[in-house]
Amino acid sequence: AIAYQIYPRSFYDANGDGVGDLRGIIEKLDYLQELGIDVVWICPVYKSPMDDNGYDISDYYQIDPQFGTNEDMDELLAKAKEKGIKIIMDLVLNHCSDEHPWFQKALADPDCEEAEYFYFRRGENGQLPNNWRSMFGGPAWEPVGDGRYYLHIFGKKQPDLNWENPKLRRKLYDMINYWQDKGVAGFRLDAIIHIKKDPTLASREPEADGMCGLLECCKNYPGIGDFLMEMRHETFDRTDCMTVAEAPGVPYEQYGEYVGENGYFSMMFDFTYTEIYAGWASTWKDYKKVGEWTVPEFRDMLFRSQTEIQKVGWGAVYLENHDYPRALDKYIPKEDHGYASATMLATLYFLLRGTPFIYQGQELGMANCPWNSAEEFNDISTLNQYNLVQQAGCTPKEAVQVVGEYSRDNARTPFPWDDGPNAGFTTGKPWLKVNPSYTTVNAAAERQDPHSVLAYYKKLVALRKDPATSGPLGYGTITPCL
Ligand code: GLC
Repeated sequence: AIAYQIYPRSFYDANGDGVGDLRGIIEKLDYLQELGIDVVWICPVYKSPMDDNGYDISDYYQIDPQFGTNEDMDELLAKAKEKGIKIIMDLVLNHCSDEHPWFQKALADPDCEEAEYFYFRRGENGQLPNNWRSMFGGPAWEPVGDGRYYLHIFGKKQPDLNWENPKLRRKLYDMINYWQDKGVAGFRLDAIIHIKKDPTLASREPEADGMCGLLECCKNYPGIGDFLMEMRHETFDRTDCMTVAEAPGVPYEQYGEYVGENGYFSMMFDFTYTEIYAGWASTWKDYKKVGEWTVPEFRDMLFRSQTEIQKVGWGAVYLENHDYPRALDKYIPKEDHGYASATMLATLYFLLRGTPFIYQGQELGMANCPWNSAEEFNDISTLNQYNLVQQAGCTPKEAVQVVGEYSRDNARTPFPWDDGPNAGFTTGKPWLKVNPSYTTVNAAAERQDPHSVLAYYKKLVALRKDPATSGPLGYGTITPCL
C-alpha cells in the first residue's frame, strides 16, 4: 500500500473558517485517488483545545467542531471506502489535555480515581519532583497550586497518562475499539514509546541547563512491552488492523519485539536518518545545518535502517511529516532546490523496502516557508524554542531565523491547491501563513504539467503497484552495493 499523511488543519477548508476540516478531505478524495493512495493517516481530529493542534485531546470520542462532526467522520470513512482508500487515525495515548474531564476531576480532588490516571507528585523544599526536561523545552513538571506537580513530557497542557493504572488502560482500549468498530482501518501511535516511565521517577545526570533528556527515564523503558502487547491483544487483534508506531529510541536489536511476526505493531517509523540534523542537541540552535553532516553518513544510516529492519519485519519509509521542516531544506542546499532534487529525494526513499508514506505537499516539491517574525509562528515547540535560543544568546532576529529553519510550521502551511487567493486552501483567513511559493508550486499547475514533481510521484506510485515491478520493490531484499 501507498500511504499519505494529512495534517487536517492545513489540507482543505470546506467551510471558509480558515481551518481545514473533514469535509475538506472528503472533497479532495479524488485528488488522492488520482495519486494512487491506498491509505490515509489523518493527524488528530478529536475534541481539543488545540494547544498542540489536536495532540492534546479533551474528548477521545468526539470530533472537534473545527474539523466537523462525528457524522462527517462516518461520511469520510464511507466515501473513502467507495474509492478503495482506507483511513487510519492518530492515537494519542501518552497524554491527554489538561481540559480532559479526567484531569479536571484530578485537580479538584487529589483522592479521586482519576488522580491515579496521571503522575502527580509533591516537590520537596520548593524543588521540582525531578530534573526531567520536557520534549518541547523547559521542565517536565508543572505546579497545580496545592503543593502538587504533574508530569508533562510534552507541553504544559498535555499531562502524561499513568499507564500503570489498569482502569485507565481499560478506558483507552475501549476507546480504540470504538473507532475500530466504526470502520477505521488502523492507527498511527503517537509518542507511544514514552508510555512507560522509570517508576522511581529519579533524576538523571544533569546537562548544562540542570535538566536531563528523557532517553533513560521514559523512552522504551523496560516493561513497556507488557503494555504494548496487552493493547495489541485487547484492540488491534480484533480486526486486520494496520498500526504504525512513532517509536524513536528503540535500538535495532529490539525491532523484532516491535515489528516482528509477533510484534506489537505492523510497522514503525525509524527516526535515525530523518533526524540526521538533530543529534542530541537540547536547543535547535545546536542542530546541524546541511553540509555539517556528510552524504556517506546519511547513506550509512539509511542502509543500516533498511538492512536491520528487513532482518525482523516491516518498516514505514518516509522523509517528511508534520514535525519536521520540509525534506528539501533538511537534505539539500537552498541553491539546489528544484525539480531535480525533489525527484531525487522521492526516488531515494520510495523504492526502499517498506510502506512509503507521502506527507501532504511533499508530492508537489514544497520547501520551507520564509518566516519574517515570531508572530507568524503557531507551533508550541517553535515558540518555546524561540525563547530558549534567545536565552542561549541569539538576538530576536537571529532567533526567528534559527527556529524558522527547523520549525514544524514549515510542514504545516496550508496546502497549495492553485494559484488563486490563499492558494485555493480557504475562502477565509488561513490559520497559518501560506507559503509564497504557491504561485508556482501548487496542485492545479502540477496536474497539468507532465514534467512536474507531482507527475513524477504518480509514476513512482504506479511503479510500486505495477505487477511487473511490485514484487521485487515490495518484497525484495535490500543489499547495499556502495
Ligand atoms: C508526536 C507528534 C507531535 C506532537 C507530540 C505530542 O511527536 O507527532 O506532533 O506534538 O507527539 O503529542
